[in-house]
Amino acid sequence: MRTPLIAANFKMNKNLDEAFNYFNELKKLTADTKNVEIVVATPHLLLYPLTQSVKNTNIQLSAQNVHWEDSGAFTAETSPKTLKAIGINYTILGHSERRKMFCETDETVNKRIKNALKNNLKIIFCIGESLDQRENNETIKVITEQVKKGLKSVSKEEMNNISIAYEPIWAIGTGKTATPEQAQEVHKKIREILNDIYGNEISQKTRILYGGSVKPNNIKDLISQNDIDGALVGGASLKAESFFEIISQSSK
Ligand code: 13P
Repeated sequence: MRTPLIAANFKMNKNLDEAFNYFNELKKLTADTKNVEIVVATPHLLLYPLTQSVKNTNIQLSAQNVHWEDSGAFTAETSPKTLKAIGINYTILGHSERRKMFCETDETVNKRIKNALKNNLKIIFCIGESLDQRENNETIKVITEQVKKGLKSVSKEEMNNISIAYEPIWAIGTGKTATPEQAQEVHKKIREILNDIYGNEISQKTRILYGGSVKPNNIKDLISQNDIDGALVGGASLKAESFFEIISQSSK
């Protein structure tokens, strides 16, 4: 049985005051939440002060990216080692906005994954096809390549720290969600790829999240699919109440 993972991706939104208010509200709302893992990826500048706010709660903080080295001449990058030292245990990697706007490739994502694992971070590894690729029937080919290249030389044991987020690019921030059936089809395929690489146990254990215009009114149908184990939520996570509505409908 996979515990659902519901993660918020704030992207480049909220200042410190707004974030504190948000966490005060979210903490109250989720005080009795059980059987759902809650993660919030805030802008990196806010992570350290917010560690105080989430202490002794069921909310975990996450980074949105980390570098493939622990230190060095990499202006404006984030070291996974520095994150661990301030008590952060999660990072998103390979988000399509990083791939599209900041030249990330399967190879750089793989390097970042390897170093995040070395530093004992848990990872939400994002993959997803563009609208053109979907319309050209290339979805499965693209997903297969992203999974295989992104997880290159990641061991079975290390897979315990990885969740995969399937985020079709055409559904991100557009209000167009993949239908539960469309999402399930790709999630099932991702599990088959994991089965080919790592065998049945790992493929059954690994959580596969859906992301792309997840809202309180569509989470129920998505999460009820066999291979959808949670969500990575952008816009609808920015209000504590709507993020909580998603969380509260997600225990399986
Ligand atoms: P939206 O929920 O705003 O579509 O964003 C999805 C996303 O990119 C989460 O990482």
